[in-house]
Amino acid sequence: MLTFVIVSSTVRKNSQRTIKSVVGGQERFDVLARCLLNLDRWKSRIGHDLNLIIFLSHPEEQKALNIPLKSLPNPLKSELDSVIHLIEIFSKPEQFNSRFTTMNFENLIGDFSNSSTIYYLTPDGVQIQEISKEFNQNKEMCFILGSQHDLSEIQENALQKIGVIPVSLGEKDYLASHVITIICHHFLS
Ligand SMILES: C[S@@+](CC[C@H](N)C(=O)[O-])C[C@H]1O[C@@H](n2cnc3c(N)ncnc32)[C@H](O)[C@@H]1O
Repeated sequence: MLTFVIVSSTVRKNSQRTIKSVVGGQERFDVLARCLLNLDRWKSRIGHDLNLIIFLSHPEEQKALNIPLKSLPNPLKSELDSVIHLIEIFSKPEQFNSRFTTMNFENLIGDFSNSSTIYYLTPDGVQIQEISKEFNQNKEMCFILGSQHDLSEIQENALQKIGVIPVSLGEKDYLASHVITIICHHFLS
């Protein structure tokens, strides 16, 4: 199982959303929809189950939305299709075997550290070429990344405290959805 945890400080659980408002940039929900679309394409290409966790880090949220990619009914056709599905998942998560869990970031990563190897994606980390050899040997892996913003210093400190491995894709900044592509590419057999 490969899990991608994307941290968003702007997206709220119960906001009213339309395709138009999302395309207009509301809360940068579009960043998450693009990540969902990307993972949906990768799920048939690699031999791992994929899981997306959207962590809503807004102080009034502190919630993790867990979306198993295999629970999406049909391949997503486009970015708009992905926006429509993600809006639906937010309003009726149970229909997609998804669920919101109220927890803080420390609890989320604490839970994962018991079952998975956690990698934190940051340009300041260890070069990916140095650690990608160990990728396929681990069955449960969790990759944590920012959305349109990087993680906060507090979140970075929490990751450091539990000994998470920082991984760099190089000095250039990539979009969150591109980061997912680069990581998944390492799992092509
Ligand atoms: C769009 S970026 C966040 C904002 C970006 N740092 C900026 O200044 O515009 C999304 C996330 O992808 C990950 N990321 C981007 N570039 C990376 C790189 N070169 N190496 C590792 N992770 C990267 C980080 O987790 C980052 O928070």
